[in-house]
Amino acid sequence: MIRDDFPSLPQLIALYIIDSTFNTADKMTRTGRSRFARGNARGNDKKRSKRRMFPTRKVDPLLSAEELPQMRVAGQLAASVLEMIDPHVAPGVSTEALDALCHEYIVNEIGCTPAPLGYRSSPQQTPYPKSICTSVNHVICHGIPSEKKLKSGDIINIDVTVIKDGYHGDTSKMFLVGKPSPHAERLVKVTQECLYLGIGAVRPGAHLGDIGHAIQCHAERNRYSVVRDFCGHGIGRVFHGEPQVLHYGKPGEGVELVEGMTFTIEPMINLGAPSARLLPDGWTAVTKDRKLSAQWEHTILVTTDGAEVLTLRGEEDAPPASP
Ligand code: MF3
Ligand code: CO
Ligand code: CO
Repeated sequence: MIRDDFPSLPQLIALYIIDSTFNTADKMTRTGRSRFARGNARGNDKKRSKRRMFPTRKVDPLLSAEELPQMRVAGQLAASVLEMIDPHVAPGVSTEALDALCHEYIVNEIGCTPAPLGYRSSPQQTPYPKSICTSVNHVICHGIPSEKKLKSGDIINIDVTVIKDGYHGDTSKMFLVGKPSPHAERLVKVTQECLYLGIGAVRPGAHLGDIGHAIQCHAERNRYSVVRDFCGHGIGRVFHGEPQVLHYGKPGEGVELVEGMTFTIEPMINLGAPSARLLPDGWTAVTKDRKLSAQWEHTILVTTDGAEVLTLRGEEDAPPASP
């Protein structure tokens, strides 16, 4: 999702003035709905003495234990869309055709709603016109399916979000079309490793900064860059909730993770510079230098001792927890 925490100067001044009010109000809204929520409040209280420049609307209320099976169902159904589409991703196929296949499957086979169709994050934004996102080569994310056909050597991210009984499952993977160059293939592989290392950092007591750090280190170690303008997000009954999950950071910084949190990790890694540019369609984000970009995404649940990958596919092994 697009980050919404870069305030303008007047916003910054307003935030600074009302910051203490935010802190108190925030504490009161974060009362527990679930058995996990008390842990959440405790975790956040620890840091409450620190005054912050930014609003502390940082974590949505946790889902209740009773809602988690429904998140598992939504996650598995989203994963099944990527499995279904796999054999259709080939040279000569248009991304619109892939969208049509996914739409039909999502609505008629698995009885879900495609969350992107008609979605907008603010009233000013044009509604997203399709059911999936297809981001080819230098497209970072939110590529809109079109009549343009895939060709051998392309790399493409297909991003699927389904809603089942009000709960969201959000996941994406990269596909190699025909035979991409070794440097494209390597970017795709390292980006998946970034996702897995991020997931490996998830456990109660860890911080969002640990996830970002794991991803950033691996990307930069390989001389790639991490996209800053988009991030993972809290997910549940909402598509894009709090917290914002940055794909770079420092260990121990940011929100502390507690059992029962549900969010996505979806690193976007560039072969060149991290800068993004938005196309006039209002959605498609491309690399400014037009070099390749890759992305992988899973929806995650924080468990007692690690992470459960709600959108795990049959072809995958659960990523190992980092030591
Ligand atoms: N699935 C994307 C994400 O990972 C969001 C797509 S929103 C859309 O958050 F409107 F562009 F589809
Ligand atoms: Co997402
Ligand atoms: Co997504």
